[in-house]
Amino acid sequence: MIIALGVETSCDDTSCAVVREDGEALSNVVSSQTALHAKYGGVVPEIASRAHTERIMPVLDQALDEAGVALEDVDFICATKGPGLIGSLLVGLETAKGLAYAARKPLIPVNHIAGHLHSIFVGEDRAQMERFYPYLGLIVSGGHSSLVRCDAPGSYRELGVTLDDASGEVFDKVAQMLELGHPGGPIIDRLARDGDPHAFKFPRPVLTKAGYNFSFSGLKTAVRLCIEERGLDTILASKQMLADICASFQMAVVDVLLTKAERALKRERLERLAIVGGVACNGCLRQAARERLNGSDIRIPKPLLCTDNAAMVAAIGLARRKQDVAQDWAVNADSNLRLGK
Ligand code: KG4
Ligand code: ZN
Repeated sequence: MIIALGVETSCDDTSCAVVREDGEALSNVVSSQTALHAKYGGVVPEIASRAHTERIMPVLDQALDEAGVALEDVDFICATKGPGLIGSLLVGLETAKGLAYAARKPLIPVNHIAGHLHSIFVGEDRAQMERFYPYLGLIVSGGHSSLVRCDAPGSYRELGVTLDDASGEVFDKVAQMLELGHPGGPIIDRLARDGDPHAFKFPRPVLTKAGYNFSFSGLKTAVRLCIEERGLDTILASKQMLADICASFQMAVVDVLLTKAERALKRERLERLAIVGGVACNGCLRQAARERLNGSDIRIPKPLLCTDNAAMVAAIGLARRKQDVAQDWAVNADSNLRLGK
């Protein structure tokens, strides 16, 4: 059976994976740099690319070992071309290029967002995948918030994008305002479990003329004002108040995301929805999606496949491989790569 090696280094996770033609991930190794960036309150690009350089070969070895294959057994190599941090992307793409050249294997450059959209199919064969198309993709990550109509692997129509902060970024920034640590999404998710999502009335900017586009700056300002009004020390001294703010903020984000997704499903006459990207790990979003959109077939990957990983990169490469694409050894990383390119 054909197998693909995936390489992903677009942001702060170094990842290599081996995926088989029937969708099975034989390995999916992710080395997270969270601890390196935590003290800076966000990802530092220079530190990220240096860490990728140090980690990429050990991660590759581990991925091949766990899969029980050698580089020669791999049929082709897929690597993220963009979007992402340029210094980070270059490490993975150039490593993959070198491996492909030395081992005489085809190199398939992959769009990171297409990878996320495809993450729901890791573990599934082509027939299972084809049954799910067409579907609506809600991408919610640290760098992206968008709604995409997916008609086939590689065939996408962007319905809406974020006009300011991506949803993961809003979680991270609110966590920063509350001095909770980085990345903020998982921390807010945990604290919100003990909070009342109706305790604070935060705005839900969904009824504007923005259509399917997202805008979270108003929500962010509302949370900032709420913190200023009550005082950060007072909030941090009261476990309940902190949990209530987290739960109310989180519910506002989830409400916006699902209201737009619901609208897009209806207008595009789609029955199936995929929620992908790091924020798809969020407990409230996962539960609310199933409750509110119970007429739709909803797929949300397991957490390891929501955050950045190379299995999704290998899987979309497998789905899109063509018999005789000309090999472009001059392929370069593109930090602003658009979907469908
Ligand atoms: O997809 P991802 O790993 O990287 C990008 O491509 O951006 O997403 C990372 C983002 C971060 O902003 C992080 O705070 C958020 O996903 N995130 C969460 C949760 N887990 C990760 N946000 C909300 N709730 C979570 N449980
Ligand atoms: Zn991502």
